[in-house]
Amino acid sequence: MDKVFVMDHPLILHKMSIIRNKETGSKEFRELVKEISVLLAYEVTRTLQLKDIEIETPICTMKTKALSGRKQAIIPILRAGLGMVDGFLELLPAAKVGHVGLYRDPDTLEPVEYYCKLPQDIDKRDVYVVDPMLATGGSAIAAITFLKNKGVKDIKFVCLIGCPEGLKALTDAHPDVQVYVASVDEKLNDHAYIVPGLGDAGDRLFGTK
Ligand code: PRP
Ligand code: URA
Repeated sequence: MDKVFVMDHPLILHKMSIIRNKETGSKEFRELVKEISVLLAYEVTRTLQLKDIEIETPICTMKTKALSGRKQAIIPILRAGLGMVDGFLELLPAAKVGHVGLYRDPDTLEPVEYYCKLPQDIDKRDVYVVDPMLATGGSAIAAITFLKNKGVKDIKFVCLIGCPEGLKALTDAHPDVQVYVASVDEKLNDHAYIVPGLGDAGDRLFGTK
């Protein structure tokens, strides 16, 4: 799985320990998901293209660098992906945001699509699909297939917690997609929740349980 990048930054690992704790309430959970997302965005954007430019400092002219690559879009998978958007926008303020609404049917565990709104020029943008959890991989695979059908070519998937089952399913289905994950956990349980995980990311973000 040479397209999977597992984060090792101490700040990410420290903040992950707090959001996993069941005593952490929604307010702190939301704040930390945003902070971790800023750090993930920093790692994910390491390969952005640069061009040479010339500027004038108050002292003299100098040759320096500026971003030169394609425009970008952030696509959260609703609901829980919403928690990662503001963190990404902190570092990529010019990115547009599209939304793909998917929920996992509790019986079949298959993703069900219920909403989609994308930037008009999505096929000309590099895309970051964000969702805190990669469990069976069904939601990420469906969202990425959907975006490819809209003409998107460069896709990175960014999540907080993955597991071997979801990473295998995603990289088998979309071998061209780079996957960035803050932590790879042990396994899925009988209800396809990640173990040890953090529980239901959407419910913890929005306080719905
Ligand atoms: C969660 C999570 C992912 C999905 C991961 O969403 O945010 O989208 O499950 O599971 P999978 O890899 O097995 O597809 P959920 O379906 O609970 O919807 P929600 O965000 O609206 O709570
Ligand atoms: N969705 C979640 O929110 N948590 C899991 O552990 C699995 C899917």
